[in-house]
Amino acid sequence: MDFEKEIARRRTFGIISHPDAGKTTLTEKLLLFGGAIQEAGAVKSNKIKKSATSDFMEIERQRGISVATSVLAFNYNNQKINILDTPGHKDFAEDTFRTLTAVDSVIVVIDVAKGVEEQTEKLVEVCRMRNIPMIVFINKLDREGKDAFDLLDEVEQKLGLTVTPLSFPIGMGYDFKGIYNIYEKNINLFSGQSKKKIEDVIAFEDLSNPELEKITGETAANELRDNLELVDGVYPEFDKEAYLSGALQPVFFGSALNNFGVRELLDCFVQIAPAPRPKMAEQRLVQPDEKDFSGFVFKIHANMDPKHRDRLAFIKIVSGTFERNTPYLHVRHGKKLKFSSPNAFFAEKKEIVDISFPGDIVGLHDTGNFKIGDTLTSGEELHYKGIPSFSPEHFRYINNADPMKAKQLNKGIDQLMDEGVAQLFTLEMNGRKVIGTVGALQYEVIQYRLEHEYGAKCTYENFPVHKACWVDSEEPDNEEFKEFKRVKQKYLATDKQGQLVFLADSIFSLQMTQQKYPSVKLRFTSEKES
Ligand code: G4P
Repeated sequence: MDFEKEIARRRTFGIISHPDAGKTTLTEKLLLFGGAIQEAGAVKSNKIKKSATSDFMEIERQRGISVATSVLAFNYNNQKINILDTPGHKDFAEDTFRTLTAVDSVIVVIDVAKGVEEQTEKLVEVCRMRNIPMIVFINKLDREGKDAFDLLDEVEQKLGLTVTPLSFPIGMGYDFKGIYNIYEKNINLFSGQSKKKIEDVIAFEDLSNPELEKITGETAANELRDNLELVDGVYPEFDKEAYLSGALQPVFFGSALNNFGVRELLDCFVQIAPAPRPKMAEQRLVQPDEKDFSGFVFKIHANMDPKHRDRLAFIKIVSGTFERNTPYLHVRHGKKLKFSSPNAFFAEKKEIVDISFPGDIVGLHDTGNFKIGDTLTSGEELHYKGIPSFSPEHFRYINNADPMKAKQLNKGIDQLMDEGVAQLFTLEMNGRKVIGTVGALQYEVIQYRLEHEYGAKCTYENFPVHKACWVDSEEPDNEEFKEFKRVKQKYLATDKQGQLVFLADSIFSLQMTQQKYPSVKLRFTSEKES
């Protein structure tokens, strides 16, 4: 198959949801359709359950599972589908944000009873900012839930989306009879059997046909007609271009657990979801079909085995082909590297591959060369943009608890930060190190990993910070800037890239600072606007 065809048949996406909405179940059902797994239950949930927050072995075990499920690939209708896993736990939200820089589209799963939840709001906001095409799947229709129209309203209002249903439920919960597929114009009846076998759908174009009563019963038939009339009047018609530009989000209804409505979702997905898209580098826009290879690191996973401290760096291929044993330029280091055993992912296995195409993810064994955001190319000096850091929510001093192991501690902190586990800030005034995280759980993970992987011990000390703001210091000689630096010295630090950061201790102090030093620009992400 030629290069262009290989690109055109790839679909790389992520599934996002609030924990428990059904992401793992849906992923598993998609894999079943692809024939990649034979039975339900084969994909292990990689979510870190609430009860496991202080059980380190559990965290380690789950980390192991999440290596295996980081990328799940399968073929369906001659398309190569790559699902990138996104951790649902909110303490790992940074991981998910970064993974979203490597997807070409997403599916958003929402629980019919719970509606739009907090984590979904945050993740969808990131996708909206980046105009990532989104399909919404409303799950658990076999349970009592909210009214379909109320839910669609909620999705529009809370998530700021413009939706158009492409399927519609017939009844719900106890009365759930099935779904009408607006996209394909057919009816899929729900029975307890759907779990095991995919039911035949009934083609049904003209809803005024009295046959409908025979299929669904009179009440449900009338209700469906009324509902679809309303859908027709209220929601815009589906438009593929609008979906691809992030302006319109199609919605499907179903029950992942019962494998119901999933085929409809997948069939539509493979037709409308985008193939690998061009990506902006600092220098220029890079097209997937360019012959030279380029890609970027969006995730780094440490090896579970303490005896082999190598890591797996996950590269999304943006252009050209990635080939085994070929030297590629590590742009940040300015040196060429060769990889003898790049991993590709298939279902829940990884295997060594000779060649990978745009849209694919390769896992490269790394002994500390990579950090998140690094670019790898055939030779061109490209830097891919768009893996910003957000202000952490928690801040603590990190102290060395074993003076004999200072070197190990520094190395450990350095490498864990490269992996993106947390952010490191070094105070300007005294050189003390402050670790910033999204959730409190990361402090335990860091402490545990420093001890078990690097033989170093640490303790933490509270450091009350409200928000980290990156400071633009384009005019370092400006008097106002100099005064800001002098007065706020206690609160200034540098991040790992050497950028100046202001650690505001309260909303009040942040506002006062902005008022007092209007020419000092404070940013809430590490990425400069272009
Ligand atoms: P997550 O990855 O988004 O966190 O959710 P996951 O798929 O693990 O699903 C969370 C729970 O919701 C699971 O139940 C799962 O079986 C259930 N679920 C998923 N889809 C449906 C559906 O369509 N209908 C119904 N009724 N339930 C659904 P659990 O009891 O928490 O876990 P398990 O013991 O079943 O694994």
